[in-house]
Amino acid sequence: MYRTHTCGELRIKDVGKKVTLAGWVQRIRKMGSLSFIDLRDRYGITQLVADANASADINNEISTLGREFVIQALGSVAERSSKNSRIETGEIEIKLLGLKILNKAEIPPFTIEDNTDGGEDLRAQFRYLDLRRGPLQRAMHLRHVMSQETRKYLSSVGFWEIETPVLVKSTPEGARDFVVPSRMNPGEFYALPQSPQTMKQLLMVAGYDRYFQIAKCFRDEDLRADRQPEFTQIDCEMSFVERDDIIDTFEGMIKHLFKTILNRDFNEPFMKMPYKVAMDDYGSDKPDIRFGMKMHEITDMVKGKGFGVFDSAEYVGAIAVPGCAGYSRKQLDELTEWVKRPQVGAKGLVNIKIENEDAVKSSIGKFYSDEELKSIAESAGAAVGDLVLIMSGPARKTKIALGTLRIEMGNRLGLRDSSVFAPLWVVDFPLLEWDEETQRFYAEHHPFTAPKPSDMDKFYSDKKEDLEQVNADAYDFILNGTEVGGGSIRIHNSDIQERMFQVLGIGKEEADYKFGFLINAFKYGAPPHGGLAFGLDRFCALFGGQDSIRDYIAFPKNNVGRDMTLDAPSEIEKVQMDELCLKTVSPAEK
Ligand code: AMO
Repeated sequence: MYRTHTCGELRIKDVGKKVTLAGWVQRIRKMGSLSFIDLRDRYGITQLVADANASADINNEISTLGREFVIQALGSVAERSSKNSRIETGEIEIKLLGLKILNKAEIPPFTIEDNTDGGEDLRAQFRYLDLRRGPLQRAMHLRHVMSQETRKYLSSVGFWEIETPVLVKSTPEGARDFVVPSRMNPGEFYALPQSPQTMKQLLMVAGYDRYFQIAKCFRDEDLRADRQPEFTQIDCEMSFVERDDIIDTFEGMIKHLFKTILNRDFNEPFMKMPYKVAMDDYGSDKPDIRFGMKMHEITDMVKGKGFGVFDSAEYVGAIAVPGCAGYSRKQLDELTEWVKRPQVGAKGLVNIKIENEDAVKSSIGKFYSDEELKSIAESAGAAVGDLVLIMSGPARKTKIALGTLRIEMGNRLGLRDSSVFAPLWVVDFPLLEWDEETQRFYAEHHPFTAPKPSDMDKFYSDKKEDLEQVNADAYDFILNGTEVGGGSIRIHNSDIQERMFQVLGIGKEEADYKFGFLINAFKYGAPPHGGLAFGLDRFCALFGGQDSIRDYIAFPKNNVGRDMTLDAPSEIEKVQMDELCLKTVSPAEK
């Protein structure tokens, strides 16, 4: 037996016990004739001490120890003279009676402490060392508990966990696929699933109502803090349900996770916000409702006063930034530059400062009277002391840019506190999105998403304006401005599915080639069904109060999709290429 206890276990009540611990040497300190060793495992840290009574052998072993050596320590539990309230074992120490080196270690490339000196790349390369640190251990533990509580809850309400394959055919989420060549079928490729979408629908046809899976998904898309090429979904599907049955079921799961993991209660139902309201008020389909600063349209009030930019704009909108009327010229110039960056894409920024009851200052003061400026500011919800920021231009683009500015001002004013949780559902998404470039409609979600029953007439209309107004029976779950989950009621009727493909310009041949297996399955009694999927990585990061999902994934990819620990992707051997009938061309030859 290597150990009788873990390094996080012993307390004052254990004083006098003879114990054996095993773990990693975190730190060694010498004070006169005494030697102290902090011994660490994933349960905690325990102090070992070699005092005057320790044998020469023990002292010899200690003199050869280095950081991260793996040792086994035999000793008796004693009360410490100077206690450490910062660790749970801080009232005791182990007086060494024996010490054995189980394995040596090279000096680690960075310190394995909560606050490490290691840069991001180095820590990614030595991820197994980074994972020894407290913050990452806590992140991994949170993820473990999230998965377990998810399983517990869903199982308790009748869901079955069913695995679906990873070598599949392209799924319909719309990102680029990762593909795998098939040796046995030369020239053919599997696609890795972007989600188990089509397979869970087949499970509904099979009658396996109430399915879930904690599933790996793969999407070859540009990475961001909340996006990884390989990520995990809590993927779910139900039969004989309408939208609100699904929302209610999973609201139950979300509340269970909040309660069991963060001890937070949400007694009221989560808000359901129509997509249109989200775009109009927050300039985003994933509104952060932890703070106000809502957007207000002021198009009609600002036109006709000689300010050409507003006169010609399709949309003019404003936000009132609380307490920022004192912003200097320099600060406003900086903010204007900020909104002009390509990531925001605004042409410019107009401001009104409500300095006090009588004094209003504005960058467009020569076009509007003080009274007009005041009433514009009022419409934006501004009070004395506030700064009104205004953007204009094409409606959708400008709303999104103003929404981005709103989030930035929320950050700057510290209004996006990660310990506050503001969940909501966004509902009534448009079913279709018109693309000017290709002059065709694309599915906003995926082509199996059902139109809202009330919009069926418009769905069968030939007019573009009608089709643009069809809402999907789809919903997203939003937490603190992040899309954590999304789903929909699916089309289960072949006429509606055919019409959907027609609207999307997907011919019968293409539909059969891509999704023939599903269309066929639907001929054999598909029940009405729907579902959703949550991003487990995002859920964990939000519960942990972090923006990036990387720390919640044991071995994540870096921002160019590399696994720095394994050094993947990498070239493969020529024999493997030959076996797969593959040849590479350089990017230049492509
Ligand atoms: P969707 O594409 O909206 O829906 O994905 C569901 C959730 O998965 C998470 N997610 C990601 N997390 C990390 N990295 C990524 N690259 C990434 N992409 C998505 C998000 C998102 O809300 N099959 C449908 C679900 C359904 O209709 O049932 C689907 O995959 O949190």
